[in-house]
Amino acid sequence: MDDFLKRIECYKVTYQPLDPDNYDKDLSFIKVINVGRRFLVNRVQDYIQSKIVYHLMNIHVHSHSIYLCRHGESNHNVEGRIGGDSELSPQGKQFAHALRDFIEEHQLWDLKVWTSQLRRTIQTAEELGVPYEQWKILNEIDAGVCEEMSYEMIENTFPEEFALRDQDKDHYGYQGGESYQDLVQRLETVVMELERQGNVLVVCHQAVMRCLLAYFLDKSAEDLPYMKCPLHTVLKLTSVAYGCKVELFYLSVETVNTHRDRPLDETLRDSALVPRRNSYTPLSSHDQVKRPRLYSAGKPPWLPLAPTPSALMPDGKAKLPQIGSRCLSPCVKESTLTAPRKLVAVSASE
Ligand code: G3H
Repeated sequence: MDDFLKRIECYKVTYQPLDPDNYDKDLSFIKVINVGRRFLVNRVQDYIQSKIVYHLMNIHVHSHSIYLCRHGESNHNVEGRIGGDSELSPQGKQFAHALRDFIEEHQLWDLKVWTSQLRRTIQTAEELGVPYEQWKILNEIDAGVCEEMSYEMIENTFPEEFALRDQDKDHYGYQGGESYQDLVQRLETVVMELERQGNVLVVCHQAVMRCLLAYFLDKSAEDLPYMKCPLHTVLKLTSVAYGCKVELFYLSVETVNTHRDRPLDETLRDSALVPRRNSYTPLSSHDQVKRPRLYSAGKPPWLPLAPTPSALMPDGKAKLPQIGSRCLSPCVKESTLTAPRKLVAVSASE
């Protein structure tokens, strides 16, 4: 408390309070009083500004952990098919048991468990012996006409679509389905609810887990669709000052690898296809002023921002085999790294 009060005294040397009734009445700003007990919102003028207000009203500083994992291996995973609503494979069921043991070992008695409405996540949660909630918005990315096909089948049947997705995976929307950008928007409610809740385990899907991780680890839209989220692995995310601590737990249950790497640049350069952007991106006001962001809120200006880790899991020794081959995780392995948490510096004056 002493330190906190001294800090406020230091701030007073450099800053002065906003004056919403007179001097600053024409500025756009949000004043957060007593860590979110009360908010004063002045002249919100566009969509992005209103989203910032919504975000600030939902984030909290209480200590909690978010556990993310995918469902146990499914029959479609074994066959190398995407999408669909298949059931767990025998290894997938083993993972569900290992997940129950994990919850017990970590004594997560107050844990809330969320699943999608697809059978593979529900069957995984059923084995845990705890109540759980099913969220439709946690369903896997909708692959439209490509649902239940393998990557090879997609490449043979829709070669142009396959190449377009490789060119711009984040924006590419499956015909009759979704893009990663669509998914990010669909998951907004889940993200806000995760910010508000205590300890939660989300049993989800590869694309969904990438979107949730990208939010908490501050990954770019370009990197998001290639983040490695292997089956039978639990990630524990804990908010810490200026970042988010990540712990990885491999639950030692054999599984296939469903990750498809980013294609090499040369392959993309050779392609004569014109990228098609069919996702909706919300616009902010036309006259917004772009200012260089020197430092994030809460970070002293004389220190550079912490670097973003290039990948969630370090490459090297334990490289996973290609799609369709099995990967054996011999022991429970745990590693930690921290990633910068997005800190919103609100200086919304026009
Ligand atoms: O389509 C379902 C997959 O889980 C998403 O994987 O975006 O790397 O193709 P992908």
